[in-house]
Amino acid sequence: MRIDIISAVPGILDGVLNYSIVSRARDKGLAEIHVHNLHDFGIGKYRQIDDYPFGGGAGMVLMAEPISRCIEQLKSERLYDEVIYLTPDGQTFNQSAANQLSLAGNLLLLCGHYKGIDQRIRDLYISREISVGDYVLTGGELAAAIIVDAVVRLLPGVLGNEESALTDTFQDQLLAPPVYTRPERFRDLTVPEVLLSGDHARIAAWRLEQSHERTQKLRPDLLSGTSEHP
Ligand code: ADE
Repeated sequence: MRIDIISAVPGILDGVLNYSIVSRARDKGLAEIHVHNLHDFGIGKYRQIDDYPFGGGAGMVLMAEPISRCIEQLKSERLYDEVIYLTPDGQTFNQSAANQLSLAGNLLLLCGHYKGIDQRIRDLYISREISVGDYVLTGGELAAAIIVDAVVRLLPGVLGNEESALTDTFQDQLLAPPVYTRPERFRDLTVPEVLLSGDHARIAAWRLEQSHERTQKLRPDLLSGTSEHP
């Protein structure tokens, strides 16, 4: 999979892209991720990328021309399955969106900043708008980082067997069961006996039951199918 990210503040993405599982996936050649600095497509001597909003009001708006130049260049080089704009008014991101995006060959993520981007870019180029939650970030970079992390870890070969994504919370609309490691006793709290039994069928049944109990208690909306995070 290839992911291109357009950003006015590319440095924010360094941490996610260069550490841990995402960086391992890049090293293994499973995910190719390129960050494009919007300033490289800016206008004039000062590489201008933003301007005052027509009609007045606070905040600056990212101009259409630099974004368009960048997108046009990338689109001339390959076909994108989705051109995604990260914005608080987009569809809320969730595990099923991550699963779906992980099947794509090429994704283009556009990070907004300031008061947003010129509406005409949304009209012309954007196939999907995604929010990572009902709160406003200073820009789309952290949202893009969340999407990259959630999607890349699903790519075949990125996680080892022992870290398999199939048992994740949300993967089947259930929260994950509790997990324990050594020691068996910690401050008078012991590990549930079943996990020490070696009986794999009993362990699997216990985990499923715990998942249901946890989901019922903490996120009943997931079980009733009325999730606010469809
Ligand atoms: N940009 C600013 N806030 C955002 C959010 N909640 N989700 C995605 N992009 C954003």
